[in-house]
Amino acid sequence: MSKQDDSFKKLVSHCKEYGFIFQSSEIYDGLAAVYDYGPYGVELKNNIKQYWWESMVKMHENIVGIDAAIFMHPKTWKASGHIDAFNDPMIDNKDSKKRYRADQLVEEYVEKKVLKKANKEIEKARKRFGDDFDEEQYKTTNPRVMGYLEKAQTITTRLNTSLTNEDLEDVKALIEELEIACPESGSRNWTEVRQFNLMFNTQLGTIAGEAGKLYLRPETAQGIFVNFLNVQKTTRQKIPFGIAQIGKAFRNEIVARQFIFRMREFEQMEMQFFIRPGEQQKWYTYWKEARMKWHLAIHPTEKLRYHDHEKLAHYADAALDIEFQFPFGFRELEGIHSRTAFDLGSHQELSGKKLQYFDPELGESYVPYVLETSIGCDRMFLATMANALMEETVPDADGKDSTRIVLKVHPALAPVKCAVLPLLKNKEELTTKAREVFNNLKFAFNCQYDEKDAIGRRYRRQDAIGTPYCVTVDFDTLEDNTVTVRDRDTLEQVRIPISEVEAMVSGKVSMKNLLN
Ligand code: GAP
Repeated sequence: MSKQDDSFKKLVSHCKEYGFIFQSSEIYDGLAAVYDYGPYGVELKNNIKQYWWESMVKMHENIVGIDAAIFMHPKTWKASGHIDAFNDPMIDNKDSKKRYRADQLVEEYVEKKVLKKANKEIEKARKRFGDDFDEEQYKTTNPRVMGYLEKAQTITTRLNTSLTNEDLEDVKALIEELEIACPESGSRNWTEVRQFNLMFNTQLGTIAGEAGKLYLRPETAQGIFVNFLNVQKTTRQKIPFGIAQIGKAFRNEIVARQFIFRMREFEQMEMQFFIRPGEQQKWYTYWKEARMKWHLAIHPTEKLRYHDHEKLAHYADAALDIEFQFPFGFRELEGIHSRTAFDLGSHQELSGKKLQYFDPELGESYVPYVLETSIGCDRMFLATMANALMEETVPDADGKDSTRIVLKVHPALAPVKCAVLPLLKNKEELTTKAREVFNNLKFAFNCQYDEKDAIGRRYRRQDAIGTPYCVTVDFDTLEDNTVTVRDRDTLEQVRIPISEVEAMVSGKVSMKNLLN
C-alpha cells in the first residue's frame, strides 16, 4: 500500500472512530456514496458553513443570502440545460458488469501510464543534479520527458475534442487504442460509450406520467437564478451584487469513490454575482483571488493551485478550479465560472417573464451576466480533515516519547473549542467545581465536560477531535480559583484565573481570525 493510500485509509477510519462521518444506513451494509455526519462531523461542517457564509454575506454589503427549495418546477432544468446536457459518458465492461466514466478511464490512463513516467524521470534527474536542477528546462529539453508530456497532451486534447463534439464513438476508439482494461476483470470487452443523465428524479403524487416528473436539484444555483428579481427588488441591491446559498444537491454519479469526495447527495455553498455584461473578466479575476485568499486562511499554499478548464460547461465562457492536494492527488475543490447571461436568458425565454435589470447609471435595461463561485461543503470538510489530521511524537506524562494523533484544525473550525476536565473523577469537590466552570463557559462556545479515564487519555481524546484547549480543574483550583489551560498544538500549559479562561479561548476560536 502506498503512503498516500495508507494516510487516506487512516483518515476514513478516524472519521468513523471519532464520530465525524458514518456510512449511511450502515446496519443494512450502507448506501454507496451517501454519508451521515456524526456529532463532531456536524459541528465541523457547521463551522465550515459559517466561515463561508460570514465571508460572503456578513463581509459584503452587496451579497445577500437565500434558502431555496430543493424541488423546483421541472422547466427550470430544461432552461438550465441540465435535462439535455448534464450528462457523463459511461461505458460498461461486459465481463465484470462494472460501469465506468469513459472520460475518467482515459484521464486515469494519462495520469498513471504517461505522466507518472515523466515524473519519475524528473525526480531521478532532480536527485542527480541536486541544487542545480532546473525542472522547467529539463521538461523542455529531455527527449524522453518531452515525449511523455506530448503524448499526455495529445490524448487529453483528443478526449476533450471528442467530448465537445459529442463524438462518443471516438471516445470508445481512444479507449481501445490505448488498450485500457477494466480494473476489475482485466478485460477489454467494452460496450459502446453512452450518455448518462446525472439528475435523480421522482414523481409528484397528484400528476401521473412525464408531466409530474420532478428532479432533485443537481446544483443550488438555479434556486438563485429564478429568485434573482425577487431578491433584487426586495433588497434594493444595485448591480454588481451577489446572492449566496448553502444547500443540498443530488447527482447520480456513475463512479462515486474516495469517501466524501464524490457523493450522490452532498451540500454546496454557491454564490452568484450579478454584473454588467462585458465586465466578466474583471470580476472573474476578483473572485478567483478572493476565493483563493479564503482557502489560504485554512490551508498551506503548496496544497492549493488553480486549474483552468479546457472543456467548458454549456453555460460558461471561462472557468477554473481551485484544486486541493487530497491524499489521492490534486483534485477540484471549488469552481469559479463565468456563466454569462446564459441562465437568466434561458429562464426569461422559457418562462416568458422578464428577468432584466434597469441600470440607473447607464440608463438602460439588460439581462445581467453572472460570475459564480461554487464549492462543495463536503469536499471542503475532507480537505480540512486531510490537512489537519497528523501523527506526532510528543513526550508523555513521564517525559517518554509517545505517539499522538492530533487534528490540528483551525481553532475557529474546531468542533469543540474547550474541554473542562476535573483532575480526578471520584473527588466530588473537583467534579463540582469543574461542572461550575463548564456551565459558565458553555454559553460562550461549544464546550465539553469529561471526567472519564486518566487525564492523559482525556487529553489524547480531545487532541483526536481537534479541541484547541483543555482546562483542568485540580486541588489548587479549590484554593485559588485558577486552572491549567493546555494548548493542543504547543502542549504548553499555563495557569490562569478561571475568570480569564473565556476571554483566552474566545480570542483564539473567533471567526474574526479567519475573516480578517
Ligand atoms: N453550480 C455549478 C456547479 O455545480 P460543479 O463544478 O459541478 O459546479 C461545484 O460543482 C462544486 O460542488 C465542486 O467544485 C465540488 O466541490 C462540489 N461537488 C460537485 N459534485 C460533487 C459530488 N458528487 N460530491 C461532492 N461534492 C461535489
